[in-house]
Amino acid sequence: MLHAMIMAGGGGTRFWPRSRVKKPKQFLTFSGDRTLLQSTIDRTESQVPTDRVWILTSAAHRAEAIHQLPELDENHVVGEPMGRDTAPCIALGAALIAKEHPAGIIIVMPADHLIEPVQEFRRAVHAAEQLALDHPEALITFGIPPTYPAVGYGYIQRGASAGQKQNVPVYEVKQFREKPNFDDAQKYIASGEFYWNSGIFVWKVSAILGELKRQKPEMLEVVQKIADAWGTADQEHVFRQEYPKAEKISIDYAVMEKAKQVLVLQAPYQWDDVGSWLALERRNPQDAQGNTIQANHVGIDTSNCVIAGDSERLIATIGVSNLLIIQDGDATLIADRKDEAAVKQIVDRLKAPG
Ligand code: GDD
Ligand code: MG
Repeated sequence: MLHAMIMAGGGGTRFWPRSRVKKPKQFLTFSGDRTLLQSTIDRTESQVPTDRVWILTSAAHRAEAIHQLPELDENHVVGEPMGRDTAPCIALGAALIAKEHPAGIIIVMPADHLIEPVQEFRRAVHAAEQLALDHPEALITFGIPPTYPAVGYGYIQRGASAGQKQNVPVYEVKQFREKPNFDDAQKYIASGEFYWNSGIFVWKVSAILGELKRQKPEMLEVVQKIADAWGTADQEHVFRQEYPKAEKISIDYAVMEKAKQVLVLQAPYQWDDVGSWLALERRNPQDAQGNTIQANHVGIDTSNCVIAGDSERLIATIGVSNLLIIQDGDATLIADRKDEAAVKQIVDRLKAPG
């Protein structure tokens, strides 16, 4: 049976003003009534018993995670004293799980993705679990057929076919390339051999610890000290003292690019990493004028806008199109939809002193 570790440490600057320092996007709801974090747990509920779920988040957000997931053991909600990116986070999760389940299999999931239909996702997860048993040293990835030359994703080049599991195609991986430049991304798309990395991984505890030992031994030593002190009176002290010593690097650069054996399952589901406000449009129905409305809104001659607000305030628009209008508490964002990626810059400017 699988163990799950959920990475929920992101800052979520691209969903300002709804996501603030206090509430990054994993703690927000984008469709339905469950937050992205809650939906992540729901997705594997039939495959991972609650007592095998671990959440890794920042210390500042630990209370919110516990609040949103009352069914979890609080000791499995880890609050990192500071973010060190995903490699130390994954290494620590693996070291903690290894204490009781050294032969276990882990699914690593980001807490802020939308995946549908969930039955298809479960089929792929089941396939990955069987693959991990067949190939105990493999790092297993889920490949998303790419639709444009994105530079914010990792790319996985498939090699020879490794058959099927649960009717899901499996390939050996020729290379894993994290965040290529635009020219390379274009070449990758044109070749037809590349997938996007979805950021979800399945591996045996021993496989990931083995690769960390080979590629990042100092990092493994740091998290091992923390895991050894876990559950003792020294836990917090050792965590605060040791974790900053771990190199700040993502798992993709730290391990995946040079891993010995990587396999890729071709994802049989729709995937969206909810990277910006336009994700609302992809995940929700539009009105006859192409607007996506999640607000108390009255519009005249308004088209192709994404409008989100809280229930207390009315948003009225006249004669506008192609705007993002996001109202939340004491802040309102109005942006041309083509500039959606620049929302992050507003947050940076707000944070900047003076
Ligand atoms: N606990 C914890 N601590 N979580 C973290 C930390 C950390 O220090 N840093 C990031 N995370 C969480 C984020 O909240 C997110 O859920 C996940 O780890 C991935 O981090 P991102 O920072 O969003 O990574 P990315 O989007 O740049 O790239 C990764 O995801 C892409 C798909 O969305 C890579 O794996 C790419 O290869 C991949 O294509
Ligand atoms: Mg991301």
